[in-house]
Amino acid sequence: MSTAKSKQSPKANAKNCSASSFSTWIVRVVVVFLIAALCSFLDTIKERWYVFDPPFLHDLARAAIAASPNSTQGMIDHIIANLTATYPPSQIALNTNTSEWVFNNAGGAMGAMYQIHVSFTEYLIIFGTPLGTEGHSGVHTADDYFHILVGEQWAFRPGALEKERYVPGDVHLMPRGVVKQYKMHEGCFAMEYARGWIPLMLPFGFADTLSSTLDFGTFANTVRITGREIIRNLLIGKI
Ligand SMILES: *[C@@H]1O[C@H](CO)[C@@H](O)[C@H](O)[C@H]1NC(C)=O
Ligand SMILES: *[C@@H]1O[C@H](CO)[C@@H](O)[C@H](O)[C@H]1NC(C)=O
Ligand SMILES: *[C@@H]1O[C@H](CO)[C@@H](O)[C@H](O)[C@H]1NC(C)=O
Repeated sequence: MSTAKSKQSPKANAKNCSASSFSTWIVRVVVVFLIAALCSFLDTIKERWYVFDPPFLHDLARAAIAASPNSTQGMIDHIIANLTATYPPSQIALNTNTSEWVFNNAGGAMGAMYQIHVSFTEYLIIFGTPLGTEGHSGVHTADDYFHILVGEQWAFRPGALEKERYVPGDVHLMPRGVVKQYKMHEGCFAMEYARGWIPLMLPFGFADTLSSTLDFGTFANTVRITGREIIRNLLIGKI
């Protein structure tokens, strides 16, 4: 084979070479096209994997506030008791350890989160801080429902000259792709539900830790808990 090749003129060799690099590029373009087609197909059917229902969660957040208006912990306990009574463990895996909090730095804002549920297409967390924080919402590939439990959240988009203001019982819906500056004024805690492509949101969730805080203990705990919850859900077929 190699002797046959070496007998060819340098010109023929160059021709073979450019033909094979042309077919390599054709293969690459086809692969990229197939991946794009698969992604857009998956995007049209992602709804079939959703378990949580936004109106139900909004009712649940308001019921939790009504049940223990002066206790954030009481609200969280109410939410977990309701979710575990509503959804069988064969349908969705929930993290019921309400002590499992980690710091979360993203978009310049800082708070703590407790991850109730994480899978490829949904997550439900409690996020907040008793101190207040503000930052960039991130550009997300999921719809985000931010249910205020305690305190106030303010937000605005370029062009708005007045702030949007969300108080306990309100839900602040950020549809996929919408970007805002937000502020959790003084202390604020919220139940945040996102539905869409969750893994694509994770780089935003980790960027501040990797480029600024360098809090690798938090990073390791977050990866461990998020990964564990995604796998627990995959094991029961919850995508
Ligand atoms: C859970 O909360 C919803 C909304 O508040 C309510 O309609 C439902 O009855 C609750 N379920 C249980 C088992 O408590
Ligand atoms: C919550 O606190 C307010 C004001 O401190 C008080 O009037 C109310 O009775 C409290 N409610 C409950 C359920 O403890
Ligand atoms: C709950 O989470 C806390 C904090 O990570 C941990 O110390 C505790 O052992 C966990 N409890 C259970 C029952 O897993």
